Formats: sequence, structure tokens, C-alpha cells
Amino acid sequence: GMGSAPHHDRLGHMGPRGISRLNAIVLGEALAAEENDLVFPSHDFSRHAHISSPEQYQNMYERSIEDPAGFWSDIASQFYWKKRWNPEVYSENIDVRSGTVKIEWFKGGVTNICYNALDRNIEAGNGDKVALYWEGNEPGQDAQQLTYAQMLEKVCQLANYLKHVGVGKGDTVIIYLPMLMELPIAMLACARIGAIHSVVFAGFSAKSLSQRIVDCKPKVVISCNAVCRGANVIHLKEIVDTALVESVNSGVPVDLCLIFENKSAMKRESTKWQIGRDVWWEDVVPQFPTKCLVEWVDAEDPLFLLYTSGSTGKPKGVLHTNGGYMVYTATTFKYAFDYKPSDVYWCTADCGWITGHSYVTYGPLLNGATVLVFEGAPSYPDPGRCWDIVDKYKVTILYTAPTLVRALMRDGDEYVTRYSRKSLRILGSVGEPINPSAWRWFYNVVGDSRCPISDTWWQTETGGFMITPIPGAWPQKPGSATFPFFGIQPVIVDEKGNEIEGECTGYLCIKKSWPGAFRSLYGDHERYETTYFKPFAGYYFTGDGCSRDKDGYHWLTGRVDDVINVSGHRIGTAEVESALVSHPHCAEAAVVGVDHEVKGQGIYAYVTLVDGIPYSEEVRKSLILAVRNQIGAFAAPDKIHWAPTIPKTRSGKIMRRILRKIASRQLDELGDTSTLADPSDVDQLIALIDR
Ligand code: PRX
Repeated sequence: GMGSAPHHDRLGHMGPRGISRLNAIVLGEALAAEENDLVFPSHDFSRHAHISSPEQYQNMYERSIEDPAGFWSDIASQFYWKKRWNPEVYSENIDVRSGTVKIEWFKGGVTNICYNALDRNIEAGNGDKVALYWEGNEPGQDAQQLTYAQMLEKVCQLANYLKHVGVGKGDTVIIYLPMLMELPIAMLACARIGAIHSVVFAGFSAKSLSQRIVDCKPKVVISCNAVCRGANVIHLKEIVDTALVESVNSGVPVDLCLIFENKSAMKRESTKWQIGRDVWWEDVVPQFPTKCLVEWVDAEDPLFLLYTSGSTGKPKGVLHTNGGYMVYTATTFKYAFDYKPSDVYWCTADCGWITGHSYVTYGPLLNGATVLVFEGAPSYPDPGRCWDIVDKYKVTILYTAPTLVRALMRDGDEYVTRYSRKSLRILGSVGEPINPSAWRWFYNVVGDSRCPISDTWWQTETGGFMITPIPGAWPQKPGSATFPFFGIQPVIVDEKGNEIEGECTGYLCIKKSWPGAFRSLYGDHERYETTYFKPFAGYYFTGDGCSRDKDGYHWLTGRVDDVINVSGHRIGTAEVESALVSHPHCAEAAVVGVDHEVKGQGIYAYVTLVDGIPYSEEVRKSLILAVRNQIGAFAAPDKIHWAPTIPKTRSGKIMRRILRKIASRQLDELGDTSTLADPSDVDQLIALIDR
């Protein structure tokens, strides 16, 4: 069995009032853990936790909803502010009639997130504490570390350099780096001087990089020459070179590229160089002073842009601001991972995604945590690498994605059990729903049935955790993200936007704002309002489906829009389609997600070729290559299904519902095909399965 649940013990420190649903679960008679699939934190774990009972959560949650201004002000006061925020604390104008949205938190407050992450922790006496451990791709490679004081010096040198080359408050900087220490350093250096960073995941292609450059017009692009991931060497500088040619052609030249020489991957002698534009990081940055005054910014000044996928082909520049994001990422990190100063924290996400922003860089460092940054691939040189790293650094909190859990699960328990893992005390999951069997394996095998799992549901847009277990507070159910974080009011609505109560399934929306919410889409506030606040008037629409069970637990069911989630990477079907049709042989493409054992979802593409082009293996390969080149390898279709015609309604709408059924081979569940312009298109497609 699972959860060695000392239920009756736990009842001892619960309050007698079973007012809430939550208390009802814990106090209720139906406490047969096996039956209800409840997994309890150990008594010892709860006793030492920040929040150790459902009742304590409930009290804090109620206050956060009834008095958001007071609740968040108390927390925000723990940070350093040059000037305190305006008395109203926040203002949210989500106007149902006009459709306009404006959200502000701590407006008028003047602060700096870099100061709060580094200087403040150093002043509190933690200058000698390790801020970052860095583990390279090769197991034997020299590991590195930086204390808080050392990290501040590195950040200041880069900040001074950036100022020297003319980067100032409000300017954008693109960071295209792999998981080197220089990545969080670059983010913090931008934040220190009030510049807006836009990190582009180093797995994106030149085309995607240039698209982002053209959109945000950076003063500087920061990158490195190459990186080793697993057995591969990736020449990032070459990708940057190509991207910059394309951005020049689009009328957005970049004058300065700061390139870090990642010596273990590639020497500078073999790196192609454009004199006048390219500068080696190591040649300039270390010459600058190790102290740099901060640029004090308003809480609502932009901190960063992060491009993410939506239901159109054009990525959206999600905009986060300084104050609310700082307070929110720090607080969610502290409670969802029950963070203690003695923890060693490892998040396997890349800083190119929101998880790396909020929970590699900002959230943990704001808490003064010791963070491990890993350059390599988690199964290299073998599937035991993660546990080798956990033992080497005595990692206590491990935050990762279901896709990795499933991959490692398939590789077998021996790779796990040969390592001790006894330092671990909390496990985290993010990016996609974690299926109960992967949850159990993570819990039983990786965590030796000791470590609560925080299955954190959130999004690029939300800045931080929205629905998440608070590990010491309540029993978990494998596969459920449980309950909302403080200040978050999730609602489940039906097609018409009516809130549904109790046990139900529907569209997940959020009522009201929270400090970490994104404030806009860069350069397109109207798209922000239309995409997120129009579908269900008055609410933020998440794009996810969700069920609530009889005990009030939330179960995320995946995207309900045209976004798919491949290995936790968010990909718009429209982006893949437009990459496919950019291929000269492709006449039309329709992409759907299909269940995938390891990746969660796979990419399934229906393709019609232009007349006269024979359907061949060669064309198939070059179509996949087109997607790799246009977006990146992570977006390559798993399957290309030849489609002489793509089934459409009489009005010309692609019938995705049917395409999904065919993709998942549920051929007897195709449903009504009579609305199709030509129902025989479907038979034709079915005949071409496996061709
Ligand atoms: O569908 C949800 C899924 O990932 C989407 C957000 O993707 P992105 O903005 O790239 O951020 C990923 C990291 C926060 C959501 O709309 N998702 C994320 N976490 C979970 C999840 N689905 C289920 N359970 C989760 N824990």
C-alpha cells in the first residue's frame, strides 16, 4: 500500500469545527485512506511544517480572500521597499461591459527584485551561504558554486557592463542561454538595472529566436557559443547568427551580442565571430566593478517578457511586473515546498520556461535558498543521473515534470534504488497532469513513501502556483493538484460561463486578481483582454479543463483550446501547422494532440501535399525538419498522417474532434459525421492510417 497514514493521530491536532469541506474530509468518518486514495503526510512532517493542518490553511485562506489587501501587505512588508505602496494596495479593474482589464498590485511601491534576492539576504547574514550549485553535463566535470556574496558580485559586474553599453530602465534584453550559472545571473543583472529580460529557451530554432527579437527589439542579445546536452553539442552561437540575419531582414538589427565562452563545450577559436557586433563575456564583464547601485523601480514597472504559445500562430509576450511577482513567487515557493533554510533545492526545469523564472531564479533566491542548476540531460549518461545528483548535493526538494517521471519509471526501479536519496523530503511536479500511476511511482519508489508531492498547477500567465498542495497541511490524492493557494479563487464554469458548484467538470477560470498575475501581452493589451477575459466575462480564463470531486479536490484535465502539452512544453497547434505549410510541398496541415505514454501528449499532424507531389518517406522527413527549423526540435511531429483532404464542415471549419478520434484510433467513436462537407473524407483518412 501507499500512504502509511496515521489518520487517527492526525485528528489530534485538527480543530473540532468541521466547517469547511476540507475539514470535513479529514475529520469525516470516510477516512479509509486506501478506499479514498488519500495519502497523508507523516505526523512528523506536519509537525515541522509551516502550515501543519487543514485548519491552519483554512484560516489563512479565508483571510486572503476576505482581506487581500491586509493579507498581502503583511507578506510584502517582509521585503525591502524604498518606498511603501499606495494605501489601497491593489486595484483590479476587470470590466465586464467594456472588456477592459487593468490589474495593479503594490502600485506606488518602489523596490528592486534583485536587491531583495541578493543584497537583502546578504545583509541578513547569509552572504556565505551557497546561492547556486552548478553541475555540468558530464558527471565528472568540475562542479561550481557561488555564495550569495559571490553571486551579487557577478550580477553587479554584468549589470555595470550592460549600463556601460547603454542598457537602461525599460530597455529589453534577450537572453538565449542554456542552464549555466550565467543564465540566472543575466536575469538578475537586468532586473537590477530595471531592464526587461526576455529569456528564450535555448531549444528554440533561429526562426523562433528572430521572431522574438523582432517583437521586442532588444538592445543586446546574451548567449554562449555552445552547450553539451547529453551526448550532443549544440552550437547556439550559429543559431544566434542565423536569427540575427533574419531579424536584420525584418528591419530589427541587433548591434551587440554578448557571448559567454562555454569552454567545456567549445573553444573560442572555433567560434564564428562578427567583429564589431560580437563580444566575449569573459573579455569584458570581469573588468567591471563588483558593486552596482540598483535602479529602484515601481512595483508595476515591467520585469520580464516571456513568450508562450496560444491558439494562433503568433507567440504571446507575457508581461510580468516587479512587485506583485516578487511577493507571489517567494510566498508560493515557501509554502508549497515548505521551504526551510537548510534545504537544498533542485528544479529540473530550464530558465527558458516560466518554471525556471519563478522557481529556479526568483522564488528560491528571494527566500535565500540554495539552488542547484544542472546543465545536462536527466538521463545522461544513464537514467540514474538524477539520483546521483540528489545524493551528491543532498537535495531535499526536487521539483520536476511528469514526463521525466514517466520516462524514468520506464527505465526501471534499479536506477533509482541504487542511490540513497535519503536527503529528499519533498517532491514537486509541474507542467501537465500527473497520472496516478506515475504519481505513485514517484511517491513510493523515488520518495520511499516519505515525501509529500506538490503537484503544482499554474501557467506562464499566472506567474506562480495557483492550485497546489501545501504538503504538511492535508492529505493528498494521487493525480490531484488539490486546493487553491492563498488569494486564489478558482471557479469551474459551464459553456455559458455559469459557475458550477460541488462535484463537477468544466472550464477552469479564476475570479479576481492575485499579485503574480501577468499584466498584459507585450505590445498588444487588446489581445490580452480578448484572449483571457472575454471568453467568460468577468473571469480570467485559463484554457484548462478541470473537475472538482466530492471532497473539493481539483483535477486538471488538460487544455481545452488549441494548445498541446508535449513533455510539459506548451505548443500551439497553429504554430506547428504554420511551420508545416511553410514547406513548399505542403498544401494544408491540421495538427492535434494525441495521448503519449511518456510525453503526455504527442503531436499528430494531418498533411495534404500540393498536387503532383508524391507522398513519400522523404517528404515526410523534410516536413518534420521544417518544424524543427521553424520552431525547435521539441515541436517535431510524432506522426504525419497523409490526408488527400482534411475533413471540414460545410462552412470550411476543420473537424478537429474527428481528427483527434482518428489520431487516437477511436474509430468507433467518431460520432456524427453528417455535418461534414464530404463524409467520405473520413473513410479516406482511415484507409490511410499507417501509410
Ligand atoms: O495545461 C496546464 C499545464 O500547463 C499549462 C501551462 O503551461 P505553461 O504556461 O508553459 O506553464 C507550465 C509550467 C507552469 C497549463 O495551462 N499544467 C501546468 N502545470 C500543471 C498542468 N496541468 C496539470 N497539472 C499541473 N500541475
